[in-house]
Amino acid sequence: MMAAKTSANGKALLELRGLKVHYPIHGGIFLRRIGEVKAVDGVSAVVNEGETLGLVGESGCGKTTIGKAVLRLVHATEGEIRFTRESGERVDLVEMNRGEMRPVRAEIQMIYQDPYSSLNPRWSVGEIIAEPLMVHQPKLSVAERDEKVAWLLEKVGLTGEQSYRYPHEFSGGQRQRVGIARALSTGPRLVVADEPVSALDVSIQAQVINLMQDLQEEFGLTYLFIAHDLSVVEHISHRIAVMYLGNLVEVGSSNELYNHAMHPYTRALLSAVPLPDPDANRPDRIALTGEVPSPLAKPSGCAFRTRCPLAKSSCADEIPPLKEVGPGHLVACPVVS
Ligand SMILES: Nc1ncnc2c1ncn2[C@@H]1O[C@H](COP(=O)(O)OP(=O)(O)OP(=O)(O)O)[C@@H](O)[C@H]1O
Ligand SMILES: [Mg+2]
Repeated sequence: MMAAKTSANGKALLELRGLKVHYPIHGGIFLRRIGEVKAVDGVSAVVNEGETLGLVGESGCGKTTIGKAVLRLVHATEGEIRFTRESGERVDLVEMNRGEMRPVRAEIQMIYQDPYSSLNPRWSVGEIIAEPLMVHQPKLSVAERDEKVAWLLEKVGLTGEQSYRYPHEFSGGQRQRVGIARALSTGPRLVVADEPVSALDVSIQAQVINLMQDLQEEFGLTYLFIAHDLSVVEHISHRIAVMYLGNLVEVGSSNELYNHAMHPYTRALLSAVPLPDPDANRPDRIALTGEVPSPLAKPSGCAFRTRCPLAKSSCADEIPPLKEVGPGHLVACPVVS
């Protein structure tokens, strides 16, 4: 059903180093700062050129915040976001000001979760796709821009004539194709796809993922692909990073993670993935009980310990660092590694 995964060349395009994003919380009549949400709390990860890194975790664990930090839609509290530009220059996005960031933004684009609310309903699809072009390639003539819009629409499986239509005239899957065309308009190298198919019918999800894989191959794109669900990222990701309450708990190739997951949280997420044969025996199934704690009251040490079947008292002492347990396979759990 799915196209074969393309291969990545192993050169880092994006590298997060100790990234923290803490949101201040204000309260009381003077709206004083009364606390902070540690949405991202020391994340280090690499996304290689040409690959798809799947970023997975339950709601509220900080996935979108990482995407927003890369796009500089939120400020990093601490850490580095290193990006290799098309010219080969390595820059730290955290250090860049608005003016310096503008040309870099053409190289990094985002596909949003909800194709219903992310497209301006008053603009035609052609205007929606042309907008980033007007910002980043202002010298294009109107005719050149129209031509580029039609070309982009065809690349995502729509037609040039559809550029005069409005978002409400399209189905969910078609709207997400428009969102993808808009993201591609500036010729990006890195695309942050924030749950790009989770608002779509299951029957449409595979089509959009196949399209994204075809476009990756054609344009040599690199994806940071965010999802709740391991079953969605399995087909598209070369590697997967699993996140829990602001920290990564396990990173590895998709294959390694599906077959030899070690962290109890990853194992629990995998236990929730439906199997083709529901009667199949899953000997070491881990059920996830209880809610994710609020990041305002994040447990000390390993944040997963309050839901972990293997937790020991020492798990409260420090946030376990990622440790290499095999080639490219990292696990943050001293109990299993
Ligand atoms: N602007 C903000 N101010 C304060 N807290 C925020 C802000 N944005 C997000 N948060 C909080 O930061 C945490 C991480 O949010 P984020 O949206 O990154 O999670 P997520 O993993 O993308 O979740 P979901 O799967 O629901 O999209 C959550 O607890 C959220 O409530
Ligand atoms: Mg999100």
